[in-house]
Amino acid sequence: MRQPLVAGNWKMHGSRADNARLIGALAERFPATDVACAVCPPHVYLSEVGRMLRAAELPIALGAQDVSAELKGAFTGEVSVSMLEDLDCSYVIVGHSERRKAEGEDDHLVARKFDAARSKLVPILCVGERLGERQEGETLAVIARQLDAVLERCGAIGFGGAVIAYEPRWAIGTGMTASPEQAQEVHVFIRRHLAQQDAKIADEVRILYGGSVNAGNAAELFAMPDVDGGLIGGASLKAEEFLAILAAAGR
Ligand code: 13P
Repeated sequence: MRQPLVAGNWKMHGSRADNARLIGALAERFPATDVACAVCPPHVYLSEVGRMLRAAELPIALGAQDVSAELKGAFTGEVSVSMLEDLDCSYVIVGHSERRKAEGEDDHLVARKFDAARSKLVPILCVGERLGERQEGETLAVIARQLDAVLERCGAIGFGGAVIAYEPRWAIGTGMTASPEQAQEVHVFIRRHLAQQDAKIADEVRILYGGSVNAGNAAELFAMPDVDGGLIGGASLKAEEFLAILAAAGR
């Protein structure tokens, strides 16, 4: 049985005061739950947010939004896996479409980041197609290519304990959500693709859906058998909304 996970990707939002307010509001109403929960603040706030989560005794793990593929050295502005581990990060997102697009990260670099991360952290590998690719019927081929880059580098064993997030690019921040059936189709495809190499790991890997998840649509998405939770952007910045999404992931 896969434990559901709901992770908030705060993206480049927040301030020290905003973060304190958000965590305070989460602490007021955080339920007893069997759903794993994480938040991914910007790097500069990781340390302080980690402290605030511990002080509030919240069962929310810390995640980062990106990491360097390099382990250490002269890489100005980069943050390494061991630095994230040092800050008690448990998760790190790699290959988010906003980085693939704006920062020009290709499948090869994403695979290197995933590989660097997996020894110390749980990588959350983002995959997803553009609107044009979906319209051209290329969705599954794009997802396969993105997965294969990681499979070639790390093998199926690399996905042991890892998380995959299916985030169709056309659904991110647009208010356009994939239908539960569209999400399920891709999630099953991901699982079958991995199962060709390792059935056990494919069965155990958690596959999150991300893209305009909110309190209103979370339950029907999470009801799909291969949707194991969500990677939440905008709605993770509002405590009530995030907690409602967390509740929807409970089984
Ligand atoms: P939104 O939930 O704002 O669409 O963002 C999804 C996302 O990119 C999470 O990583």
